[in-house]
Amino acid sequence: MQKPIYRRIVLKISGEALAGERGFGINQDTLNSIADQIKEIHDLGVEIAIVVGGGNIWRGRNSDQMDRATADYMGMLATVINALALQDALENRDVQTRVQTAIEMKEIAEPYIRRRAIRHLEKGRVVIFAAGTGNPFFSTDTTAALRAAEIEAEVILLAKKVDGVYDSDPVKNPNAQKFESLEYIDVLNRGLGVMDSTATSLCMDNKIPIIVFGINEPGNIKKVIFGENIGTFVKGG
Ligand code: GTP
Repeated sequence: MQKPIYRRIVLKISGEALAGERGFGINQDTLNSIADQIKEIHDLGVEIAIVVGGGNIWRGRNSDQMDRATADYMGMLATVINALALQDALENRDVQTRVQTAIEMKEIAEPYIRRRAIRHLEKGRVVIFAAGTGNPFFSTDTTAALRAAEIEAEVILLAKKVDGVYDSDPVKNPNAQKFESLEYIDVLNRGLGVMDSTATSLCMDNKIPIIVFGINEPGNIKKVIFGENIGTFVKGG
């Protein structure tokens, strides 16, 4: 029987990935499909921490009329909404979860405590990290990199609507070429936009590989966990 090649992972789900075709809000069918995929790898014994974005609810960065810090705090609150939706979908599938927020809101979820998060993972609970790092000016990609370093995850699975990293936008350019693998430094130098530079540098410094892949195809998370070459693998030289 095939075995997972990773023991502990951080799965970063962009807010957009939850929106489905409508491009806004939470699409229940999409949410269910993602939860099914997470359950599949959870059943294989993989320890899963999830960092979720909020772009399906609030895209603060596109607003030039609002104070950046305020817009970012609004984005952090959006990630909490997504985290609760994911928690609900996973617990409907009998997957035990704990949501931890980087901004305290104890009535809703546990505060982020690193050692407690690790304990939850060891007990087989899926831990969902919400509210980003708790700081404006840091993206949820940076949250994924930071949390992965903190909990000693072996890899970051960057689940996107597109199926990997391309040399130009595949939606606009039909001749865009997908990279099978890349080095962190290429991502930084070429401004490829896989992850922002803070997140990429953090992964580079801590030697955490990133796999960028499309989550809309059912079964893809499992393929990545089994080491299949889908998407784009970002690592050191
Ligand atoms: P163990 O200590 O390993 O048994 O973990 P546990 O998470 O089951 O322990 P605990 O008794 O601390 O938590 C029981 C439930 O309360 C879990 O669903 C937690 O997510 C929840 N919980 C714990 N602390 C908080 C908190 O500060 N706020 C909220 N909203 N829920 C919390």
